[in-house]
Amino acid sequence: MRNILITAAIACVSLGQAFAQEQQLIRISTDNTDLILQVAPNGRLYQSYYGAKLLHLSDFENFPWYVHAGSDGSITTRGWEVYSGSGNEDYFEPAIGIVHSDGNPSTWLYYVSSSTEQTDGGTHTVINLRDDKYPVDVTLHYMAYTAEDVIKTWSEISHREKKPVTLFRYASTMLYFNRNSYYLTEFSSDWAREVQMSTQQLQPGKKILDTKLGSRAAMHMQPFFELGLDQPAQEMQGDVLMGTIGWTGNFRFTFEVDNAGNLRVIPAINPYASAYRLAAGEVFTTPEFIFTLSHEGTGKGSRNLQAWARRYQLKDGAGSRLTLLNNWENTGFDFNQEILAGLMKEARHLGVDMFLLDDGWFGNKYPRKDDHAGLGDWEVTRSKLPGGIKALTDAADETGVKFGIWIEPEMVNPNSELFEKHPDWAIHYPNREMYFYRNQLVLDLSNPEVQEYVYGIVDRILTENPGVAYFKWDCNSPITNIYSPYLKDSQGQMYIDHVRGIYNVLKKVKENHPDTPMMMCSGGGARCDYEALKYFTEFWCSDNTDPVERLYIQWGFSQFFPAKAMCAHVTSWNKTASVKFRTDVASMCKLGFDIGLKEMTPDELEYCQEAVANWKEFQPSIMDGDQYRLVSPYESDHMAVNYVSQDKRQAILFAYDIYPRYQAKLMAVKLQGLDPDTMYKVEEINLMPGTESALECNGKVFSGDWLMKVGLDVFGFAHEQSHVLAVTAVE
Ligand code: DGJ
Repeated sequence: MRNILITAAIACVSLGQAFAQEQQLIRISTDNTDLILQVAPNGRLYQSYYGAKLLHLSDFENFPWYVHAGSDGSITTRGWEVYSGSGNEDYFEPAIGIVHSDGNPSTWLYYVSSSTEQTDGGTHTVINLRDDKYPVDVTLHYMAYTAEDVIKTWSEISHREKKPVTLFRYASTMLYFNRNSYYLTEFSSDWAREVQMSTQQLQPGKKILDTKLGSRAAMHMQPFFELGLDQPAQEMQGDVLMGTIGWTGNFRFTFEVDNAGNLRVIPAINPYASAYRLAAGEVFTTPEFIFTLSHEGTGKGSRNLQAWARRYQLKDGAGSRLTLLNNWENTGFDFNQEILAGLMKEARHLGVDMFLLDDGWFGNKYPRKDDHAGLGDWEVTRSKLPGGIKALTDAADETGVKFGIWIEPEMVNPNSELFEKHPDWAIHYPNREMYFYRNQLVLDLSNPEVQEYVYGIVDRILTENPGVAYFKWDCNSPITNIYSPYLKDSQGQMYIDHVRGIYNVLKKVKENHPDTPMMMCSGGGARCDYEALKYFTEFWCSDNTDPVERLYIQWGFSQFFPAKAMCAHVTSWNKTASVKFRTDVASMCKLGFDIGLKEMTPDELEYCQEAVANWKEFQPSIMDGDQYRLVSPYESDHMAVNYVSQDKRQAILFAYDIYPRYQAKLMAVKLQGLDPDTMYKVEEINLMPGTESALECNGKVFSGDWLMKVGLDVFGFAHEQSHVLAVTAVE
């Protein structure tokens, strides 16, 4: 369907130039929002509106032109150009910058055509723009997911100039806001300190969130943000834009407040060291930028994104997830066939679905006995595991659990047979001393031969060992020694083509092994973007499994990701917290264990078995239901979250006392998302054997209305104490 939603003859007599124009509007709608773009009399495309859904089509003719042409046709007022070009009357940050083959650095884009089609869950709008002086085309894509109020947008840049052009800006999109004030919440990170939330008011000028790490790209800054409009983003009220870029490499979010107090938001691949040479006919596709505008705070925004991800983006978003026992925190590199077989039995005893073998199982000439050697040589260490992977999958089979395995296929240790054979496959300078991160180098995935090799690692393990049911795919180093031996004099492509190379591999893995679930891991949570999550069923949030820290980390990631994508394991980090507290925290996400059962008392073990069974029973709420963040650890000494199943018949409340002050005021926790007219029985679950609930609400029946308006007294003064309450419809 061609987009000519409103065609009105507008006589711009005030400009002294009688040009009658079609008022061509492009409307990108979801249930609660409208993004309205408009072709101005100068033929260029401007954002007229992004906000709450407009109810009356007849109002649309009131949208003003955002650009005024002088009587001589000159442009006198800058507008909100949707994909702002460079070298024009807009003196602020552009979306696109091209040095053309004749050296001219300007690009002005004019509207050509647009169309909208119905797609699964919404609409797909495609808008074609073209430069009037150079054969450069830009295609803008907007997928609007109606029920979730989510828009996914990306752009394609191509040209037919005689020689290659150089791209120096290539935004995924641009969005504009005109509000009194803007507050940016960012999610800064480091190893074991992921997604630390902080908020600041934006002032005139630019604020940039970016990364230049290449791989393990989100180690210091996560690829998402929240933008509070007129006030800092709040959980349950207010306007907030929540955005995230699907790019597993260097990204850059630019927030620029201009002289008039307008804000432009530009999500993009980071152009740092990436002047990209584009050949004629080649299409440069930007990453997807995924965003939602919530008028009911971040809580609603998160539920929008979580539901959208489960339905449309996350690999196997509708499927169930495997609970597991991992061995990394328990054994490190120190294991053998017998120890692993014992752990499989422990997994079975615990009641989880799978045993996951971590790092340290490969390498012969350079065995992986610590993190100094072996990456690249994906053959089982024969001296350690003489029966190979086959013996392990057989043992798992006999025990009655599935078997998963760790790989880090994008990396190489200089101490490896792979590096001896193919030093040119590793990213490193030809003429400088090497420097290392975790003693390793990053393989050059811009090189198709290396892509084939990396795909072959996964393919061979799965083909030779049909019993392998799962991968944990790690990535522990940023790109160091930043030079691609393959790209030679085109180093401007390196950061970008490297990431595209990873996607080529992942696409092939998904095509040929569609049913193998995979965990994305990056030295903890340094990779978690929605492009990679097309290929991964879940991601590892952090190596920090101290349950107190995890309350903050899981609170942070849950802003953008559904619980079923977030892995949380019970470990021995912070032993002052009880096994119950540690397990209750991990139960809010995809539950796993990484602890020796011998470390537990019989009661603790029995408690864990019960907790696993309860977690499985409450999957319709935790994994597939709606999440309501009720009490923030950032704002109190407590934390509470409840999940509600889609049919509202089942809910679960998690409540934590962190380090409450003596006799501090305790507030009842008001649940959300229930049916007010349904009666629910409240029962405390996940209790240690031999203990009974001391909560007054335990065993009682309340209406959803009561639970949401009056709430439950579940907080106390003890440090590191938790309560889990099953809330089940009784009629
Ligand atoms: C980093 C991961 O985050 C850990 O869980 C573990 O898999 C190690 N790598 C293994 O080297």
